[in-house]
Amino acid sequence: MPVVKAFCVRVPKRRGEEVRWLLSERGLLRRDVRARADSNFVYLPLEGLKEEVEKVLKGASPALEFEFLIEDFEAVRRETVEGLLGFRPSYEVVGDIAVITALPLCDDEAEERQVAERAAAAILKVHKNVKVVVRRASAVSGVYRTRRFEIIAGERRTETVHKENGFKFLVDLERAYFNPRLGYERARVSALVKGGETVVDMFAGVGTFAIQVARRAARVIAIDINPDAICYLRRNLELNKVTNVEVLEGDVRELSKRLRGIADRIIMNLPHDAFALLENALEMAKDGCVLHYYAVKSAVDAGGGKVRSSEGVRKAIGAAVEELRGGVEAHGFRCEILNARRVKQYAPHAYIVAVDAKIGGRA
Ligand SMILES: C[S@@+](CC[C@H](N)C(=O)[O-])C[C@H]1O[C@@H](n2cnc3c(N)ncnc32)[C@H](O)[C@@H]1O
Repeated sequence: MPVVKAFCVRVPKRRGEEVRWLLSERGLLRRDVRARADSNFVYLPLEGLKEEVEKVLKGASPALEFEFLIEDFEAVRRETVEGLLGFRPSYEVVGDIAVITALPLCDDEAEERQVAERAAAAILKVHKNVKVVVRRASAVSGVYRTRRFEIIAGERRTETVHKENGFKFLVDLERAYFNPRLGYERARVSALVKGGETVVDMFAGVGTFAIQVARRAARVIAIDINPDAICYLRRNLELNKVTNVEVLEGDVRELSKRLRGIADRIIMNLPHDAFALLENALEMAKDGCVLHYYAVKSAVDAGGGKVRSSEGVRKAIGAAVEELRGGVEAHGFRCEILNARRVKQYAPHAYIVAVDAKIGGRA
C-alpha cells in the first residue's frame, strides 16, 4: 500500500482507544489512511480542522496531553459500500452483525426490501468480518428497552460477540439492550473510577458499563430487570474473567432498599426514565457519591421552532443539568455539577446528554 503524509494528532498510548472513539463519533478521523502506534504513542490521522479537534479533546479531558504533527501513514485502498451502491446506507457493526439503521426513502415496502437487500449484499462484500445483516423492525420499547430486527442476509441469528475497549460482550440484539455507540462514554466513565470505590450500575443490561468499571473499582453491583440481560451479563463476567461484580436481577425500585448508602458512584443509563428513579439512586448514594445521569432532551425552542445545532446541543445539555439539579435538591440533597456532555443524537432535534454530579448529604 502507498504511504502518504497526513495531518494527525499524537496521544499517549493508554489514552489512544478513548481518543479514537471521541474523534470517530464526531467524524473527525480519516478513514482512507490507517492509524498507527509506536511503543508510547498512538497517531490518529485527522479529517477535521485543528481548532475543532483541539476543542473536542480539551472539552472531554483537560489533562490530556496531545500534539499535532504531520506523519507518514499507510493508505487504505478498499471498495466502499457507497461506491458499490451509489448511495450511502447508515449502518453500524455489532460483532459480526451489521445493523442497517437508515435507507433512502422508497415508494413502497417492496422497493424498500429490494434496496435493503442490495445494501446488505454490498455490506457483506466490503466487510469480510460481517456474517449477518439485519435492519431495525421496530423502535426500542418497553421496560427492557429492546427492539425487533429483520434478518436481510447471511446467517439467521441476532447473537454475536462485540469487542469494545479491550472487553468482549456476548449480546443478542433482540433479547437485551445493547448500543455500540456508547463505547466512548463507557471508557470515559471507567477512567473516572478510583480504586476502592463501590459502584452501582442501576440499569446494567448485558454488563457493558459494569464490567468496564470493575477493572478499577473494588466492588460493582449490577442490576437489571430483564432476565435475558442478566443471563448475558453473567456470561460476560465469565468471558472477561471479572469476579468483583455482584449481579442482582429485579426492579431497582425494590432492590435499592437493600443497598442504602452503599455507593461511591452510580450509573443511571436509562435516558427516558432516569428522573423517575432518582429517588432510588439517592437512597443508595453515600455522601459525596458521583452520579452519572443520562437523559434524552429536546433541542427545539420553547415556541416549537428549530434551533441551530450548536445551540440545540447547549439547550439540551442545560435542560438535563437543570432537571438533575432540581430533582436532587427537591429530595433535600446538595448537587454539584461536575461535567455535562452530549453523548449522541437521539432524533433530529433531540440528544442523549450525560451529566456527572456529586451528591452531598441531606442539606
Ligand atoms: C438503556 S438500557 C442500558 C443498558 C446498559 N447500561 C448499556 O449501556 O448497555 C436500560 C436497562 O435498564 C433495564 N431496566 C429498566 N427499568 C428497570 C428497573 N426498574 N430496574 C432495573 N432495571 C431496569 C432494562 O432492562 C435495560 O436493560
